[in-house]
Amino acid sequence: MAQGTSTAVVGLQWGDEGKGKLVDLLAPAHHAVVRYNGGANAGHSVVVRGERFSLHLVPSGILHPGVLAVVGNGVVVDPEKLLDEVRGLEARGVDTSGLVLSSRAHVVMPYHKTEDALREEELRTAQDSAAAGRGVLRVGEIGTTKRGIGPAYADKAYRASAIRVGDLLRPDVLAGKVEIACVFKNALFKGLGGSLPPCDPHSLTAALLEQGERLRARIRDTTALLHDMLAQGKRVLFEGGNATLLDVDHGTYPFVTSSSCSALGIGPGTGVPMNRIGSVLGVCKAYCTRVGAGPFPTEQINEAGNRIRERGREYGTTTGRPRRTGWLDLVALRYAVMINGVTGIALTMLDVLAGFDEIPVCVAYERNGERTDRFPPDGHDLREWTPVYERLPGFGQEITGARSRKDLPANAAEYVAYVERAVGVPAQIGSVGPDREQTIHA
Ligand code: GDP
Ligand code: IMO
Ligand code: MG
Repeated sequence: MAQGTSTAVVGLQWGDEGKGKLVDLLAPAHHAVVRYNGGANAGHSVVVRGERFSLHLVPSGILHPGVLAVVGNGVVVDPEKLLDEVRGLEARGVDTSGLVLSSRAHVVMPYHKTEDALREEELRTAQDSAAAGRGVLRVGEIGTTKRGIGPAYADKAYRASAIRVGDLLRPDVLAGKVEIACVFKNALFKGLGGSLPPCDPHSLTAALLEQGERLRARIRDTTALLHDMLAQGKRVLFEGGNATLLDVDHGTYPFVTSSSCSALGIGPGTGVPMNRIGSVLGVCKAYCTRVGAGPFPTEQINEAGNRIRERGREYGTTTGRPRRTGWLDLVALRYAVMINGVTGIALTMLDVLAGFDEIPVCVAYERNGERTDRFPPDGHDLREWTPVYERLPGFGQEITGARSRKDLPANAAEYVAYVERAVGVPAQIGSVGPDREQTIHA
């Protein structure tokens, strides 16, 4: 079984479960915190004594001096955004000397962001009039963060014209790749974008070389670095970006992101094999949220949903979009626990549910009289199922001051116990507010 003393922190829903808070809490017990997937689409908030930090590409361990913050090879890095983020942290007195970056990570280019926006616009408009009349299911937009994530991962799979962080230090290789990339992108933009100015390989290359110089000291073979650390008995914490139901293979495809967000992505995204992962902490809210398009069976477009959004301050860390809100979906949660090999859960945002008379939780799905507790493998199929709810008694008191299970009102404690029974793993951590201190340890 597991050899390692390393830990993974992964999101079990559609993102924004509070992974940043959990990583920040656990980081001091580890020697390195490693991001393995996603890019600047992630927004992880850490609140320290009322002061809020929003992290996008920089691992959430950065607030702990002495803990290495590693951007692994599976991440797609927008160098401009990364440099901005580092500058912002340093301006607030954060020591960023522990931040290192894999030379194998891929670069998000300005044309990836343009392509992301163009594709979304095309998806939004292309099938409007045509589809319905022909009995064709309209796909519609994904609702991406427009951070260029999908196009960057697509180019990674295309290979020849994709740019890796290590290329920023090799002018000849970089120039050749950028030149050919511009051929492909300009053809695409001419077809889709019409009036967009073409990409200029010379200015793009010059900008990247300059960014490469600024990042030079941080660029490493992080696979070798992590294996050396593990061989010395050091502890590594893997930080998932995005979340399981947005995983490109296992999420609500096609309404997903473009990387392996679940714990299954740690191997390819860092070079560290699965058997080095000791425990997997799955982070889930006491309810559900989703940003962007796609199926969301327990969504509440009503007073209850609005109340959750306002109490939970459910507005995106990256885009500021209001998050869609709904009740806890135990069908989806059991699936996510299974996919990730979760050993314990962190149940966050419990405080947000205070004041509801009763709290519905989804225990199964129903379709034309058929009932299932299996999560459907396709996002379009998922839309056809409706949730079956069980209603648990609510709790009236605010619980942000609770620091142990004993401090919770009986119905809140029972809600936690119900979730534990339903998913078959213990709640190792409870969270009753954004601050580090507002935490219940099992
Ligand atoms: P992440 O993407 O999983 O790291 O989550 P985000 O940081 O995007 O979103 C979670 C939001 O909830 C942030 O604003 C956190 O500060 C906040 N938060 C985290 N845990 C709790 C909690 O237990 N209760 C409340 N009310 N807010 C929390
Ligand atoms: P964290 O790490 C919430 C969603 C987007 C969109 C879909 C695809 O903060 O939990 P993309 O830009 O990745 O191509 O968008 O995925 N999405 C997230 N939603 N939290 C995230 O990250 C997300 N990362 C991507 O809203 O629906
Ligand atoms: Mg987030």
